[in-house]
Amino acid sequence: MRYQAVIFDLDGVICFTDKYHYLAWKAIADEEGIYFDEKINDRLRGVSRMASLEIILEKAERSYSMEEKERLCEKKNRMYRELLSQMSEKDLPADVKDVLRTLKEAEIRIAIGSSSRNTKLILERLGLENCFDAVSDGTNITHSKPDPEVFLKAAEMLGLSSEQCLVVEDAKAGVTAATRGGMDSAGIGEAAETATWPMQSIEELKQIVLS
Ligand code: BG6
Ligand code: MG
Repeated sequence: MRYQAVIFDLDGVICFTDKYHYLAWKAIADEEGIYFDEKINDRLRGVSRMASLEIILEKAERSYSMEEKERLCEKKNRMYRELLSQMSEKDLPADVKDVLRTLKEAEIRIAIGSSSRNTKLILERLGLENCFDAVSDGTNITHSKPDPEVFLKAAEMLGLSSEQCLVVEDAKAGVTAATRGGMDSAGIGEAAETATWPMQSIEELKQIVLS
């Protein structure tokens, strides 16, 4: 088999928390009177909380101080975590569950590579806290995607080289990060346009990895 491990992005790949990011940012943008839509939201995929806010503020009519930006990030995160608290194991999509189980059965190692600082909470809500061989997230990196750091750290935790790992992403920034880190990628949604392996659905991962 070509890959020994699969490194999964979290938001928008393992679960639909990308929608919750959107809802929380939309509430902030509306309160501030800033135009924001799903197309702008796509640019937030994979990038850090503060970098996301900077993108939203491109449409603002005034400039914001660092203090104001930090307050907005905290407020957004409170709203986002409120949405996360309503999640349960039922919110783990069946196809994702099946892919994870199949890879484990085939002794392919699995890891998380996410920019999110809420990774631990999300994995707990989904009942996945003991599922992955390595978790690399926003708490152990200094640069978020498109920098490859989060994926390189995941490979290091697994004790594998970049060539042995495949990254799964829904974000173009994530595909760029994988490529810069010397890793192949499998992409869904907008990430399919630039990934090594374009996918219509995550189920296709089984064939890519196991054939
Ligand atoms: C990524 C999301 O997974 O995590 C981004 O795609 C988000 O949209 C980033 O900004 C940081 O997430 P959090 O949970 O630390 O605010
Ligand atoms: Mg994502």
